[in-house]
Amino acid sequence: MKTTHIAFAVAALCLSAAAGAQTVMKISYSTSITSHYGVGSTAFCDEVEKGTQGRYKCQQFPNAALGGEREMIEAVQLGTQDLANVSTGALGNFVPEVKIVDIPFLFRDYAHARKVMDGEFGQDLLKKMTAKGIVGLAWTENGFRHMTNSKRAINQASDANGLKMRTMENKVHMEGYKTFGILPTPMAWPEVFTALQQGTVDGQENPIPVILSAKLSQVQKHLSLTNHVYSPAVLIVAPNIWNKLNDADKKVFSEAAKKGAAAQRKKVNDDEANGIAELKKDGMQVVEQVNGESFRKAVAPAYAGYAKEFGADKIAAIQNVK
Ligand code: PAF
Repeated sequence: MKTTHIAFAVAALCLSAAAGAQTVMKISYSTSITSHYGVGSTAFCDEVEKGTQGRYKCQQFPNAALGGEREMIEAVQLGTQDLANVSTGALGNFVPEVKIVDIPFLFRDYAHARKVMDGEFGQDLLKKMTAKGIVGLAWTENGFRHMTNSKRAINQASDANGLKMRTMENKVHMEGYKTFGILPTPMAWPEVFTALQQGTVDGQENPIPVILSAKLSQVQKHLSLTNHVYSPAVLIVAPNIWNKLNDADKKVFSEAAKKGAAAQRKKVNDDEANGIAELKKDGMQVVEQVNGESFRKAVAPAYAGYAKEFGADKIAAIQNVK
C-alpha cells in the first residue's frame, strides 16, 4: 500500500516537472493562418515543437490579433510577446539599418531579393537587430508589392497621380511613392480594410498573398502588377526567450526558422502563380503589363536622397548581386 502511494507521488512529481518544463510561446502576424505568414509560422512552430520534444510550442495569433506590426515588434522587444513574423515596414523605426531594403525598385526579382537577404548582407542585418533588443532568426517574405485602387486602372506612373493611397508607416516607401504623384497616407494594417471600404483612401499597395488573404477584391476594383518594391519579412524572437535557450535549442530554433522561411516563400510563389486568376474571378480588373519603366524613371530622383541616407556604395552593392 505504502509502496503504491510512493509510486503515485513520484509519477505525479515527474508529470508536473514535465508539464512545468513546457514553454508556450505567443507568435503573431498580420494575415490569416492559411496565408503565407500563417504557413511560414506554422512550419516554424511545428519544427520547434518536434526538435525540442515538446518543451517549446507556439500559440498562434493570426490576423493582427495582438495589434499591428509596430505593436508586435515593440512587444517582442519588451518581452511581453515571444515571437512575431513581420514585414520590414515598421522595423526600420526600431533598427534603422533595415530601412535600405525598402527602397523602391531596389531588387530586380525574387531570385535577386532572396539571394541578398540570405547572403552576407541580409545575415549581417539580422545580427544588427540584437543591439536593439530583437533577435532576428531568418528572413521570411511578404513579396513584391502591387497597387490596388477603387478609381482607375494604373498602366503607367502618371495614372497613379493624385490617388490617395494607404502606405505602411515607412518613410522610405513614402518618399518614393510621392514621385509617382501618389498622396501617401500612412496607416496601420488593421485599419486598412475599413478605410478602403469607407473610401477614406482610394487605394493601397501590397503583395498578392496579402491582397488575396485579406479579400481586398471586396473593396478594390483595380489591381496593377506594379512590382514597385520588394517587401521582406522576418521571424523575430524576444531576447528573454532566446537567452535562456541552450546551444542545442538555439540550433533547433534557427533551423526551424529556415524551414519556416522556405515554406513561406513557397506559399508566396504559389499565390503569385495562382492568385491573379482568383482575383480576376472575384471581379478585380487586373493590369498585368504595367509600364515599369515609367515608374523607375519617376522614382530615379528620389535615389539621390536614398544615396545620401544609406550610401550610394551600399545601394550599388545590393543592386550588383547577381
Ligand atoms: O501593408 C502592410 O502593412 C503589410 O504588408 C502587412 C499586410 C501588415 C503584411 O506584412
